[in-house]
Amino acid sequence: MKASVSLDCAALRSNLLAWYDRQARTLAWRVSPDDRRAGVRSDPYRVWLSEVMLQQTTVPHATPYFLSFTQRWPTVSDLAAVEDGELMAAWAGLGYYARARNLLACARAVASQHGGVFPDTEEGLRALPGVGAYTAAAVAAIAFDRAANVVDGNVERVMSRLFAVETPLPDAKPELKALAGELVTDERPGDWAQALMDLGATVCKPKGPLCDRCPVSAWCEAFRSGAPETYPRKTKKADRPRRHGVAYVLTRGDDVALVRRPPKGLLGGMLGLPTSEWRASPHDDTEALAAAPAAAAWRDLGAVEHVFTHFTLTLRVFAAEGGADGDFVWTSREGLLALPSVFLKAARAAERLP
Ligand code: ADE
Repeated sequence: MKASVSLDCAALRSNLLAWYDRQARTLAWRVSPDDRRAGVRSDPYRVWLSEVMLQQTTVPHATPYFLSFTQRWPTVSDLAAVEDGELMAAWAGLGYYARARNLLACARAVASQHGGVFPDTEEGLRALPGVGAYTAAAVAAIAFDRAANVVDGNVERVMSRLFAVETPLPDAKPELKALAGELVTDERPGDWAQALMDLGATVCKPKGPLCDRCPVSAWCEAFRSGAPETYPRKTKKADRPRRHGVAYVLTRGDDVALVRRPPKGLLGGMLGLPTSEWRASPHDDTEALAAAPAAAAWRDLGAVEHVFTHFTLTLRVFAAEGGADGDFVWTSREGLLALPSVFLKAARAAERLP
């Protein structure tokens, strides 16, 4: 690991902060650098909510969810009062539903144990349910202007390039975090964290970094090397494994049969289409029909594919009409829109979406 940063930190910092003052993205949860200077404070609830959503997905995808959540539940105490099922439905489409459960557990802890007020230190935040090191640092910096070291994938990439770190990811993580930490000071920590995020998202991009627009290229060893996009170095990843399953679209008039998934595990607690087990080998027709949730004239509609974090799923889609009475939740076409994306794809294959 590099012992310490030997460059002119003060000049690098001031160039990046000046760039942020000019170029900061306008984001729904962000207090602009001008407003911040004028004394406007970030609402910790909004910062926390946005960070949890952004660990999940991109800014454009998270923004409508953020706006709808903060409109429906303007404070953390409002969110704490929501029922699990309602929150799960509102979260649908953001993926990784354990995070939604943690979100609710955290909101309830803040409401019941902290009087609806977020702790204002990294340590206090870290003690909340579901709040990891990254979220605690981000909220401490952005909401409370604490000198916390906020390191996500974007910041790792920026550090790997600035210092031309040869250790491949993921082994390089501690080294990249230590380097990022050397650049954090008590001066504008919230803006500093967001400036690095903006730099990573808009200039120091994974492919095709825009070095001619970069406010810190003068200090960047990867830029000097002539091949900045070859950083961060990576160990070759094994391909994502593939799993196979069958989804069943059983209809009664306009309604579609859904089932509540078991509380633990992938998509736990969510409503979804009935499916077979998901396994390494494909189901043949006999197996697919044997696993169906009801006896009916099933039609084979082909397959859809969905990429989860740890595997890719190929889902054959079977559809049938019939009023079978089973342990189903019958849902209208509009209701289907609240399903997790994997089921939306299957419902779409069966032309069951408005
Ligand atoms: N990515 C993660 N957190 C972010 C934030 N606060 N602003 C912009 N992009 C982000």
